Amino acid sequence: MARLLALVGLARLAWAYGPFDPLQYVDPLIGASNGGNVFPGASLPYGMAKAVADTSSGSNQGGFTLDGAPVTGFSLMHDSGTGGSPSLGNFPLFAYTNCPDGDVDACVFPKKARARFGVFDNGSVTARPGEFSIALRSGIRASMTAAHRTALFKFTFPGTGPDGKPAQPLILQDLSDLSDSRQDNGTVSVDADTGRIRGSARFLPSFGSGSYVLHFCTDFAGADVLDSGIFANSRASTAVHNLTISRSINGYPLPGGAFVRFKSAAAPILARSGVSFVSVDQACANAEAEIPSFDYDQVVEAATAAWARKLSPIVVSTEGVDSSFVTNLYSGVYRTMVNPQNYTGENPLWTSAEPYFDSFYCLWDSFRSQIPFLTIVDPAAVTQMIRSLIDTYRHEGWLPDCRMSLCKGYTQGGSNADVILADAYLKGLKDGIDWDTGYQAVVKDAEVEPFDWSNEGRGGLDSWKTLGYIPVQDFDYKGFGTMTRSISRTLEYSYNDFCIAQMAARMGKTADADKYQRSSGHWANLYKADQPSQFWNGTDTGFVGFFQPRFLNKTWGYQNPLNCSNLDNYGVCSLQNTGPETFESSIWEYGFFVPHDQGALLRLYGGPAEFVRRLDYLHDRGITYIGNEPAFLTVFQYHYAGRPALSARRSHFYIPAYFSTEPAGLPGNDDSGAMGSFLAFAMIGLFPNPGQDVYLITPPYFESVNVTHPVTGRTARIRNVHFDPTYQAIYIQSATLDGVDYRKNWVDHSFFTEGKELVLTLGRNESSWGTRVEDLPPSLSPYTGFNGTYSSQATRMRRIRGYQASFEGYGVGRN
Ligand SMILES: *[C@@H]1O[C@H](CO)[C@@H](O)[C@H](O)[C@H]1NC(C)=O
Ligand SMILES: *[C@@H]1O[C@H](CO)[C@@H](O)[C@H](O)[C@H]1NC(C)=O
Ligand SMILES: *[C@@H]1O[C@H](CO)[C@@H](O)[C@H](O)[C@H]1NC(C)=O
Ligand SMILES: *[C@@H]1O[C@H](CO)[C@@H](O)[C@H](O)[C@H]1NC(C)=O
Ligand SMILES: *[C@@H]1O[C@H](CO)[C@@H](O)[C@H](O)[C@H]1NC(C)=O
Ligand SMILES: *[C@@H]1O[C@H](CO)[C@@H](O)[C@H](O)[C@H]1NC(C)=O
Ligand SMILES: *[C@@H]1O[C@H](CO)[C@@H](O)[C@H](O)[C@H]1NC(C)=O
Ligand SMILES: *[C@@H]1O[C@H](CO)[C@@H](O)[C@H](O)[C@H]1NC(C)=O
Ligand SMILES: *[C@@H]1O[C@H](CO)[C@@H](O)[C@H](O)[C@H]1NC(C)=O
Ligand SMILES: *[C@@H]1O[C@H](CO)[C@@H](O)[C@H](O)[C@H]1NC(C)=O
Repeated sequence: MARLLALVGLARLAWAYGPFDPLQYVDPLIGASNGGNVFPGASLPYGMAKAVADTSSGSNQGGFTLDGAPVTGFSLMHDSGTGGSPSLGNFPLFAYTNCPDGDVDACVFPKKARARFGVFDNGSVTARPGEFSIALRSGIRASMTAAHRTALFKFTFPGTGPDGKPAQPLILQDLSDLSDSRQDNGTVSVDADTGRIRGSARFLPSFGSGSYVLHFCTDFAGADVLDSGIFANSRASTAVHNLTISRSINGYPLPGGAFVRFKSAAAPILARSGVSFVSVDQACANAEAEIPSFDYDQVVEAATAAWARKLSPIVVSTEGVDSSFVTNLYSGVYRTMVNPQNYTGENPLWTSAEPYFDSFYCLWDSFRSQIPFLTIVDPAAVTQMIRSLIDTYRHEGWLPDCRMSLCKGYTQGGSNADVILADAYLKGLKDGIDWDTGYQAVVKDAEVEPFDWSNEGRGGLDSWKTLGYIPVQDFDYKGFGTMTRSISRTLEYSYNDFCIAQMAARMGKTADADKYQRSSGHWANLYKADQPSQFWNGTDTGFVGFFQPRFLNKTWGYQNPLNCSNLDNYGVCSLQNTGPETFESSIWEYGFFVPHDQGALLRLYGGPAEFVRRLDYLHDRGITYIGNEPAFLTVFQYHYAGRPALSARRSHFYIPAYFSTEPAGLPGNDDSGAMGSFLAFAMIGLFPNPGQDVYLITPPYFESVNVTHPVTGRTARIRNVHFDPTYQAIYIQSATLDGVDYRKNWVDHSFFTEGKELVLTLGRNESSWGTRVEDLPPSLSPYTGFNGTYSSQATRMRRIRGYQASFEGYGVGRN
């Protein structure tokens, strides 16, 4: 019934939004098993309320999973695609058709125990943007939708309970969260007359420090209240209506919550739960304002319309293409807008007129393509996110590298908010962004070491400035953090400084630009030209010249360049104290992370042919792992060696083989839509080098792609001539940009803001298109070794100036 009504709603929308309905291609269940950890439930774009069925799976970071684990409840908030501990999942509801013999104490309340009533068949699950629905074997169907800070549930019950007696449904709501992090003195009360449940509790963030308090307010409609009460541990009573509960001394939060019973189940029972970080009263007010009438279908329709609007900028020609490619694209685009979450008006930490976004989880993941993708399809939202990041700096002293649930998240490498700010600045975002303060914030990352650099900024700044690298076993008495990752931190800090240099150059701060451009070259101090690489069995890879750890006294340490690669089954490579000198990836893969100076890297690796051979080895030997973000750019770095055809081939090597439209279809955690954005960029054929105004051109996976800029209203178009839906002809033979012959293998952001047209003529063989030195994307150092020709210093200067001039054209304001 719910579905039928919803479909009618969809038909009406198709009329309202034109003939192409992208939502038919969104499958939120992609990534719901096999560690994708996506949130497949109901949410608005960037919504705070996120309703889904939570399972007891060990991989329930996003709440729901399709891996045989039963449902434990239907909770109100979530993150999507994250690693770490499960996030949020607060204040779940659960329902029974009746309690045996009408005795509330005979119903099962604790989350762990009630899971046996949460068994379901995979086939009973439906998910689409704005709605999630599931039928439990108990006969209860739970459908859910969401407004911005309010979840709306619709429970449909069988006429009789398991005991054969008439339905007298009980709906409970408890004070737990997915990771059972509730602290002392959670409170809940239920109003005996209306059945309204109100409550609050303090929880821990899933990958960060501190704690947060969340409040909720639930009202019911659809049936008359029979009675209500609270439960503590496994016992319940209709005589008690208020509860304040301890975490208990056993470490496990003591089960506790409230319940309401209803006189009948003749009609579905609706539960409307508002949430707030500010107060219980605000949670109630949010619910009343956002869903005044309990009109489930109307809420679904509004959510559907919001998603249709957000996805409308991208229109692809679906003709001839297997529909799974279209589903991969739009599902990927959809996932880029689930996180970050818009908590504007819900931030109790400081008072400000600026927007507040949260669930930047983490910027280390999202700087690479997610936020840059949103800069194209939803620049107004990114503008608000940037303002929020800058406001967070204003009030907490630092830009975050990761942030969730109002708390500081852990820093994984560099201060990568610098990349995000530079990317947005170079691409012309300005409305209301205080770029002077934004610049102060990134300079503080480079200049001031925080006492606790696990949470913000950078560590080892004294060594960085005196030695020009982060030493292994650094001496650092000024700030404290996990003293590992010296190689990947050096590489990321170098790139962070380059991003600052670009902002400085554009702002006319010449001295700063020079200074940070110089330190952006520090990566080279860890390059050990005579370092070989052997497999653990002693077999040599045949490659020489790798990054290596370096001590304070400038002598070299050693890390096997293959350690922490996809082939390394033993390494522990995350934030552990015992971690190695690279974070979550190998020296082999980090060996390509010099996004600003590929010219220098090409020279170190022995010229373009050797660079390509090394990149091929990285991918063909399975050293890299496309399920983690450092791999993204390596797919397209052939462009810098003058071989754009090989980037296209590599993109098809991974898609769809590693990205299918099954629930198990993601190669790793979606990481708040990072994987989704990788798919989206790769499939539209323009991949960013994030932090620079550069998109690398490969043929789209569709005959044509239109991207309408939501602010300028201009439509950028990419069209493949001789398009081949079997993807044999994926090599660009020639191209025109706005009708003029175009041989550069990259474009800048004006392509989108000005709505240009790129026409690519494809063939089955690699061509000379985009292969000349003058066709290559910008690099700090000149490109050398291209058939013995060396680009002169003059060419180099032109290129750098071109670099800076390339974003003059479309109205970047100074403020
Ligand atoms: C469906 O259910 C089975 C058993 O409950 C489970 O093992 C399987 O992985 C589920 N998911 C999918 C996508 O089939
Ligand atoms: C919880 O409540 C008890 C009883 O009022 C009080 O003694 C205790 O300090 C409270 N704990 C916290 C963390 O507020
Ligand atoms: C129970 O809680 C409600 C709302 O929080 C409050 O108004 C009421 O006074 C409380 N009742 C008792 C008995 O503490
Ligand atoms: C893209 O836009 C062009 C011109 O604006 C239009 O002719 C074409 O049909 C559009 N392509 C798709 C796939 O809608
Ligand atoms: C974020 O929420 C605020 C307050 O509701 C709203 O004004 C703003 O438009 C939202 N931003 C986005 C990108 O949805
Ligand atoms: C060593 O390991 C590599 C990579 O797995 C393999 O290709 C090679 O054949 C192995 N060599 C020996 C002697 O086992
Ligand atoms: C440099 O420091 C490392 C690590 O402390 C030490 O093992 C090595 O012997 C030192 N080398 C020299 C030449 O001082
Ligand atoms: C690298 O990995 C191998 C195999 O897992 C391990 O034995 C070795 O200790 C690691 N360490 C270094 C420094 O390469
Ligand atoms: C494409 O390359 C193949 C060999 O890889 C060659 O046989 C064929 O003739 C080439 N086609 C064209 C049009 O150059
Ligand atoms: C060098 O020139 C040859 C023939 O002129 C060409 O096939 C090759 O692609 C060129 N290589 C590079 C790296 O430019």
